[in-house]
Amino acid sequence: GMKAMHVRVYDSQRQTALAAASLFAAKILSKPDAVLGLATGSTPVDTYKLLIKWHKDGMLDFSRCRSFNLDEYVGLTPGHPCSYRRFMDEELFSHINMKETSVPLGSAPDLQAETQRYDAMIEQAGGIDIQLLGLGQNGHIGFNEPDRSFSYGTQVVTLTKNTIKANRRFFGSEEDVPRQAISLGIGGIMKARQIVLIAYGVSKAQAVREMVKGPVDPVCPASVLQLHHDAVILLDAQAASLL
Ligand code: GLP
Repeated sequence: GMKAMHVRVYDSQRQTALAAASLFAAKILSKPDAVLGLATGSTPVDTYKLLIKWHKDGMLDFSRCRSFNLDEYVGLTPGHPCSYRRFMDEELFSHINMKETSVPLGSAPDLQAETQRYDAMIEQAGGIDIQLLGLGQNGHIGFNEPDRSFSYGTQVVTLTKNTIKANRRFFGSEEDVPRQAISLGIGGIMKARQIVLIAYGVSKAQAVREMVKGPVDPVCPASVLQLHHDAVILLDAQAASLL
C-alpha cells in the first residue's frame, strides 16, 4: 500500500508557521550546508518571519546554506516589483545571511535553456534537502497546474484562469499577470529529500481534501505527495475543514 502522508492540523496560522519554521531550523542545525527549496505566495511569509527572527536572535546561521525557488513569472526581470525574485529578496533574503540564492530567470532570452540550466544547478548543489510548498486553490504546487500527466523537470507552464485570478492581488490588474511561468516540475519537487507543505484558510480546503484523500492524479498535482517518503502537510483548522 501507499505510505500515509503526515498531516498535522493546528489551531492557528501562527502555530502552523511555527511548525514549518521549526522543521527548516532543525534541518539547518543538523546540516549547516543544507540546500533549501523555497516558495512564494502569502502562505510562507509567516514562516520566513520566524526564520528571520531566529537568525537575528543568533540561533540560525544560513551562511553555508543555499536555496532554489520553485518558480518565476515569464517575462518579469528580477527587479520587477512583482517578480518572485523581488518577493524573496524582500521577505527573506535581505534579512538573513544566505550567500547563494537562485530563482529561475523569467526574463531569460532562451527559456528552454534556462529550465535546463536550473535543473543542472540543483543537481550540482547535490539536490534539495528540504522543500517548502504552498498549495494553489486548484491543487497546484509550484506552478504545476492540473494536467493529464505529471511533469518531470523544470519547464515553462501556462497558468490557468483560476491561478491568474488568485494571483492578481499582487499585480495592478488581471491583465498585468503574466500568462506563463517557469516552474520546477513535479519530478523536481518529488526529488527533494523532505517536503513541507503549508495550507491556510477555507479557500484551500477542497484542494487539501483532494491532495490527502483523493487518488494520486495529475488533476490535483499535489496528490503526488502521497507517494513521497517524507512529506509533512501542515494545516490550519480551516484548510483541514473538509478532511
Ligand atoms: C502561487 C505560487 C505557488 C503558491 C500558490 C498559493 O501560484 N506559484 O507556489 O503555493 O500561489 O499562493 P498563496 O500562498 O498566496 O495562497
